[in-house]
Formats: sequence, C-alpha cells, structure tokens
Amino acid sequence: MPMVSMRQLLDEAAKGGYGVGAFNVNNMEQIQAIMEAARETQSPVIVQASRGARSYTNDRFLYHLMMAATELYPEIPIALHQDHGNSPDTCKSAIEMGFTSVMMDGSLMADGKTPADFEYNVRVTREVVDMAHARGVTVEGELGCLGGIEDGHGSDADPLAHLTDPDQAVEFVERTGIDALAVAIGTSHGAYKFTKKPTGEVLVMERIEQINRKLPHTHLVMHGSSSVPQELQDVINKYGGKIKQTYGVPVEEIQRGIKHGVRKINVDTDNRMAMTGAVRKVLTEKPEEFDLRAYMKPAREAMKEVVKARMIQFGQAGHASDYKPIPLEEMARRYKETPVTV
Ligand code: 13P
Repeated sequence: MPMVSMRQLLDEAAKGGYGVGAFNVNNMEQIQAIMEAARETQSPVIVQASRGARSYTNDRFLYHLMMAATELYPEIPIALHQDHGNSPDTCKSAIEMGFTSVMMDGSLMADGKTPADFEYNVRVTREVVDMAHARGVTVEGELGCLGGIEDGHGSDADPLAHLTDPDQAVEFVERTGIDALAVAIGTSHGAYKFTKKPTGEVLVMERIEQINRKLPHTHLVMHGSSSVPQELQDVINKYGGKIKQTYGVPVEEIQRGIKHGVRKINVDTDNRMAMTGAVRKVLTEKPEEFDLRAYMKPAREAMKEVVKARMIQFGQAGHASDYKPIPLEEMARRYKETPVTV
C-alpha cells in the first residue's frame, strides 16, 4: 500500500487503545530490520528520520529505500516521519521529499539547542500546520523541553520547570491545530537518561495523565523512550565497549503512558545499541573477518528482535490489517473542513 499519514496510524491506535513505536533509521539495514519486525508481528509502523539521517542518506537514498519498503511489504501501513524538524524550511523539504508526517520542534530555536519562548513555538508550529495540512501531511509539535531532571536541566529553583505544562498544552494545541503533541516528562535522548531505575520524581508519568485529562483527543508522543536494557549494555561492554551503567525508560512506564493517550513512542538508542553489540561481537570473536555482511546481518537481526519486542509491548502487533489507506488528498480535504480557527 502507499505510505499513509501518521495521523491515520495514530487515530487507529487511539481506537484500538495501543501505541505505535517510531523507530529512527539511517541506513538500509535499519529499514529492513523494522520492516521484517513489522511483518513478523503484523504491525503498522512509523519510520522516522532526523535531520542528521536525512543528510547522511542524502535524502534520495532514504526516499528510495522507503519506496522499496512499500513495494516489498505491501501489507504493512507505513508512515514516514521527520523527527525534530528545526524550522518550517526543514519540514517543507521533508514534505516535498515525500514524508507523510513532520515534527516541528519549536520548543527550541532553529539551532536545535536554545529553548524558545511559547509565542515563537506557536508561530512556527502553526506555519507548518498550515503548510502540511494543505497536503494531508501530519504535524507533531513539542511543548516543554526534553532533558533529565536528575542532571539539573532547567532552573535549580524548580527542576520541573522545563516539563510540559498541562494548561499551556491546551492553549498550544488549540492555537496550532497539531495532530500530535510531544511532551516533556523528564526523558532525554540517548543512553544516559537515569543513574538508577527511575522513580516518579525523575520520570513524571503523572504529568502525562494530567495532560491527557485536559486533552483527551490529542495524540501524545513520548520522546527519549529507549529502555536501554541491561543485556544490550552488557553485550557492548563484553566485547570491548565502554558504556557506563545507565537506566532507560522502563517498558511498563511506557505502557502506563499508552493507557493515558500516548500513541507514538520514539525509540532510537535501543536499536543503535543492539546493532553495535552485534557488530562488536563478530569483530571481537573473528578479528580476521572483513566481509561486512558477516557483521551487518547479525546487527540487522539484533535490531529486528528489539523492534519486534517493542511492537508487542506497545500493542501495535496484530493491527496491520485494520487499515484501509486514506490518501493524503483525502486527509487534506478533511483538514480543510475543520480549519484551525484560533
Ligand atoms: P532514545 O534516544 O531514547 O531512543 O529516543 C529517541 C528519540 O526520542 C528520537 O526523537
């Protein structure tokens, strides 16, 4: 089937009460790992690419690899999503490239580092919504800033100040018309999220419940949701790596989020770690090896197993056949019927 909008996947997920993993890709093997996992579990999928991934693949390689995925896995509904677009221009180029969903991350300025103010965030996000919805493309916005509470992100006076404020979230969704809202609840990107198994003080799942009560019809997104399993850390370290002991987001916390409106769960680090561990193992055990297939194949397999596990844990497994693809033109028509009026 043709690629579908992310909105369609999230609407279906809301109906079914499940979450959909959004897995980052940079190369062919990662796309293959996700698609095989999707086939084996009969899951709809969100494949996402950061700006870094788009420049690494020169955009066109990524696009054609995704076209190959739709040809080879016609039974799987796929949305292609721009992860952390830093400006309307980035989102525009993604849409022109064929992405069916974009994230305008206006919580930060275009440098991707400096926290932005609320009005800036509303302005750039709304600009992207107007442009994207006219083409039936989905938009994810972000309010609050990702980053750990443990590491002192934000002001000392209030370590929770950078989390998403539920009342502001209502205003943000109303004024922008976004399809999905990424929330800041204490998670951060990468392997080093927490120095011990997180409690509610540093991973504030309660905030999701508060936001969901105020915005029951908005699809929520959890970023920085790798679980950083001990086994993956151990494999890397066993074969010469140096990963310091660390803790990710426990799967049961994500499942709690899914019960309260979380429909998209971003996972990148777990897959990177799975592939790196597999590559290290082969190269350590067989230092004479130089056929890259000898290590990329187990790397792809290791990522597939992680993705499969997440698809089952998030509840998307078994739902691929629920979809009758809605063309982007039809999505555009529906958005036109219910314009953002604020
Ligand atoms: P992880 O680093 O926890 O996998 O998060 C990825 C992510 O949120 C991409 O936007």
